Amino acid sequence: MPLARSLSVTSLSGLEEWDEEFDLEDAVLFEIAWEVANKVGGIYTVIQTKARLTSEEWGENYFLVGPYVESNVRTQVELIEPTNPALRRTIDKMNSSGCKVYFGRWLIEGSPYVVLIDIAFTAWSLDSWKSELWELCSIGVPWFDREANDAVLFGFLTAWLLGEFAAQCEQPAHIVAHFHEWLAGLGLVLCRQRQLPVATIFTTHATLLGRYLCAGNVDFYNNLAEFNVDKEAGDRQIYHRYCIERAAAHCAHVFTTVSQITAIEAEHLLKRKPGVYPHVTACVKCLKVNEFSQKGEVTNQVVYFYFFFKLYVGDHLTIRHLDFNLDKCLFLFIAGRYEFSNKGADIFLEALARLNYLLRVNHSDVTVIAFFIMPARTNNFNVETLKGQAVRKQLWDTAQTVKERFGKKLYESLLVGQLPDVSKMLDKEDFTIMKRAIFATQRQCQPPICTHNMLEDSSDPILNCVRRIGLFNSSADRVKIIFHPEFLSSTSPLLPMDYEEFVRGCHLGVFPSYYEPWGYTPAECTVMGIPSISTNLSGFGCFMEEHIADPTAYGIYILDRRCRGVDESCNQLTSFLFQFCKQSRRQRIIQRNRTERLSDLLDWKYLGRYYIAARHMALAKAFPDTFIYEPQDTTAGFRYPRPASVPPSPALSRHSSPHHSEAEDNEDDERYDEDLEAEKDKVNIRQPYTLPMKNNYTS
Ligand code: UDP
Ligand code: GLC
Repeated sequence: MPLARSLSVTSLSGLEEWDEEFDLEDAVLFEIAWEVANKVGGIYTVIQTKARLTSEEWGENYFLVGPYVESNVRTQVELIEPTNPALRRTIDKMNSSGCKVYFGRWLIEGSPYVVLIDIAFTAWSLDSWKSELWELCSIGVPWFDREANDAVLFGFLTAWLLGEFAAQCEQPAHIVAHFHEWLAGLGLVLCRQRQLPVATIFTTHATLLGRYLCAGNVDFYNNLAEFNVDKEAGDRQIYHRYCIERAAAHCAHVFTTVSQITAIEAEHLLKRKPGVYPHVTACVKCLKVNEFSQKGEVTNQVVYFYFFFKLYVGDHLTIRHLDFNLDKCLFLFIAGRYEFSNKGADIFLEALARLNYLLRVNHSDVTVIAFFIMPARTNNFNVETLKGQAVRKQLWDTAQTVKERFGKKLYESLLVGQLPDVSKMLDKEDFTIMKRAIFATQRQCQPPICTHNMLEDSSDPILNCVRRIGLFNSSADRVKIIFHPEFLSSTSPLLPMDYEEFVRGCHLGVFPSYYEPWGYTPAECTVMGIPSISTNLSGFGCFMEEHIADPTAYGIYILDRRCRGVDESCNQLTSFLFQFCKQSRRQRIIQRNRTERLSDLLDWKYLGRYYIAARHMALAKAFPDTFIYEPQDTTAGFRYPRPASVPPSPALSRHSSPHHSEAEDNEDDERYDEDLEAEKDKVNIRQPYTLPMKNNYTS
């Protein structure tokens, strides 16, 4: 019986209401990616945050397919018996033919079904599949490329799964298979080659060549049309990977990418223009922002106090040299895949060195702590960092001891019916204990830059850059650096908090990427109400520039890396950072409140429509007798107005201008909450939409 599943997408500040009346019949959706229940970077976030919306649309007929990684399954997946009879037969058949395929529910919002394939279990087929690949399309995968070998295994196994599923369906199947990134792309190529009844979508989240070329000091964007792609891929020994990626892009019924800038890149490097440009968006895995931002930075301070002290207590910044004022301490961070120059860690470090100089010569009382959260190969935490932990524990124990002694004296005094003489509550011995604890916190060496022992310490790009610019966390430095070469986790003994908690404890995210097809990290900052710096070479930066009238007023700083040289961009970044440091606490709170208002803009609820359209289009292309797709008119654009409280001239600005008296800072918080409410009301008035959105539904 045909099921009519449709989704109503409501309107957002100008984004028209969109009722998709598309009868999905009995279609089944498989979404295939290497990062299903397996975190590597942003693709995991895409899939994880989108799952609820997709589950709502496809219900029981939605299956995610990914690799089986035992440690992930143990913590994220509940293994169950397959619910769909055809899928159960498929999995049984594969398992009795030498595969290991698992079925379960991924324990995230929407609880989607997952099919997880243990590729190592079928590694015995690798050679024969590689030779089949060679026979079919002359792609030769070298033995030493482990990732490509995984891609071959994963590709053949997913094609097997889809083919078997189609065969097991009682009625002719209408399958949509959405493949993400080249690692999953081979499955798509094989589906087409085997002429399976599958409507295919390929989404590239970056191009392989783009990533490699940008990382290699090439003037990428000015030469996009000039590259000899085969030669460039060959020179970098990724020709086989490139061929898989390009084949997937060309074989797909619908080819999509995550931003306009990557669409242009894909057109030049993969030689096919992506037909849809879905803006991959952050979503509300990201908490209720109001919880903290209306209270200003209170939670923020608690959080940073907590993690900073935990991490570095006892170092000379905090205790021996009392030049370090917690109220004047700003936490900045960069996070993501460790691609030193693509992610802009290079210019961030350079800008930090310049900022350090500016803060010093201006006798600023602000201290900046810059975190680098980028996973690298390590050999666990280093001793110096762990010492900080031990010292913290010792301070805590001392405080507990003194508290107990204090309590005892208090009790004794009350027992005899007297109020205690507070001046006598702490005696000489208490002071001795406390002094001893404080002395024990002193260290002879500087606090470490890196929290872990790096395996490639001498060639690590961040550490080498720190050595070159000489930012060694000395007490005179106004800018300190902490490199945490591991993703954050609430089970870490050092920084026991997950990434969201960490972000909420920081003041500014800095993502000055040179190569960034979308960039989840700044998007997540926005959703959590944290200002961020991105660039006009990142999908997110361009999206914000296009759809927001005055991004800076909302705490979205967009660095120009398109029309400026590296040095100029670095100066601009330094100036953003310096301006940020000059803001008062009150100004920062107002900015955070504005940032937070943009979170709706980045919700799948609104922008998931692009993926929905891509799937419907693929179905109509693959099964023209059953499905008809009529493009929705999405030409009406939307543009978010500038905050009403930002006056036209900066000279008149009270909130945005960096200079005003300290007294103002201490005004009652409520007063500016009221201001904000008034401001919100004004903003909610619909503004005319000035920027057209491109019609994305061309094939
Ligand atoms: N991230 C994380 N834990 C961390 C640091 C980062 O989970 O400690 C996530 C972050 O939430 C984001 C992703 O890593 O979703 C990075 O995605 P992005 O698109 O910014 O870049 P990519 O690494 O995919 O190039
Ligand atoms: C890739 C890109 C990143 C993007 C993510 C999700 O990992 O590097 O910019 O945000 O995919 O699309």
